[in-house]
Amino acid sequence: MAGAPVTFPRGREVVLGVSAGIAAYKSCDLLRRLQDEGFLVTVVPTPASLNFVGKATWEALSGRPVSTTVWEQTESVSHISLGESADLLIVAPATADVIARIAQGRADDLLTTTILASSAPLIIVPAMHPKMWLNPAVQSNVELLRNRGVVVMDPEIGRLTGSDSGIGRFPETASIMKEVRIISKTKPALVGRKIVVSAGGTREAIDPVRFIGNHSSGRQGLAIAFEALRAGAEVTVVAGATDPFNLPGATIIHVESAREMQAELDKQFLECDALVMAAAVADFRIAEQSMEKIKKENLTELSLVRNDDIVATLARQKKSEQIIVAFAAETSSNLLELAEEKLKTKGADFIYVNDVSDGAIFGDENTTGHLLGMDIAPRHFSDVSKYEVARNIIEAISARWGRNG
Ligand code: CTP
Repeated sequence: MAGAPVTFPRGREVVLGVSAGIAAYKSCDLLRRLQDEGFLVTVVPTPASLNFVGKATWEALSGRPVSTTVWEQTESVSHISLGESADLLIVAPATADVIARIAQGRADDLLTTTILASSAPLIIVPAMHPKMWLNPAVQSNVELLRNRGVVVMDPEIGRLTGSDSGIGRFPETASIMKEVRIISKTKPALVGRKIVVSAGGTREAIDPVRFIGNHSSGRQGLAIAFEALRAGAEVTVVAGATDPFNLPGATIIHVESAREMQAELDKQFLECDALVMAAAVADFRIAEQSMEKIKKENLTELSLVRNDDIVATLARQKKSEQIIVAFAAETSSNLLELAEEKLKTKGADFIYVNDVSDGAIFGDENTTGHLLGMDIAPRHFSDVSKYEVARNIIEAISARWGRNG
């Protein structure tokens, strides 16, 4: 039976405010790039901006509900909760009107109210006609905001929406992201990398109603997927049976048996940069699975055959840049030696060996064990959060790529 739902730590939250400029469509790309770098984005458009890009687009792209006024989703007091949870606020594009309203401390829609209620850094990305941008009223509002510590980017010079050109263009997404990285002090180590994580336990069917399974909750694998997303990787989780979870940003592929997991990973491995094999894969399957429910009188014995060792098989096909992380569970006192041995036989780059000598680990929030790798000193973890181990694994992976240039 599935355990309690998996709760993930807080991700890095961004509120993306969109005001009514034609460049609103360019913010769709900005939203994507923010997500690529591991940010969780809530879009707060001004009501007028919906004339350019509709609510449905923002909801589909962000995967989150979108409101423009404080009168929607009132039960969550969204301007306060959004303002408090935001690590960063970006207004892109910012019109002359929204810049004026922010400068005056107005609170006439959800976006300006949220900005007032937040102490997170604010980046304003203006886009408007040069005559408006250069108007002393706008320039004075910009100066006021800059003096208050708000980052107001300069618009770019070039061709405008009409036939004329000048200063006022929405900056390139790359320039905005550069600013985001400076302000949020992030260096997402795994941007552009594809990480596949297997998680949970496989189930080997006996007949259409019975199976052989295990106690894996999937929590360690899911913690790794979460940390890989935070580090900016593109993440696919191949999930067996796990506790219930919702992990926005990751692609989730559900499988049942070890053979289904193997078939999926065979495909995924061709295109990924790293495989983290956290799943508890059944070592055996039923020799002859019955298509019909077996009457209990006839179910006197089960004949088993060995499943392939998925991680060892994939390790033999590994390209030199690819990284494989395996897992093990040991109770023995010479656990480190056994782990070293398993690291070699599996052909993995790293192995996390769970010390299960003290009993339960399955379904727990915490873990005790050792992380080993060919080129790292073993790291011991004693009753720490599975997220801490996950962060160490992600760091070990990115350090390896860093070393190999
Ligand atoms: N694994 C796999 N394919 C299998 C069995 C296991 O890829 N058919 C992977 C698991 O996902 C994990 C590692 O191999 O990464 C675990 O290895 P295993 O030899 O099963 O180690 P233990 O779980 O420690 O079990 P045992 O000591 O019984 O071998």
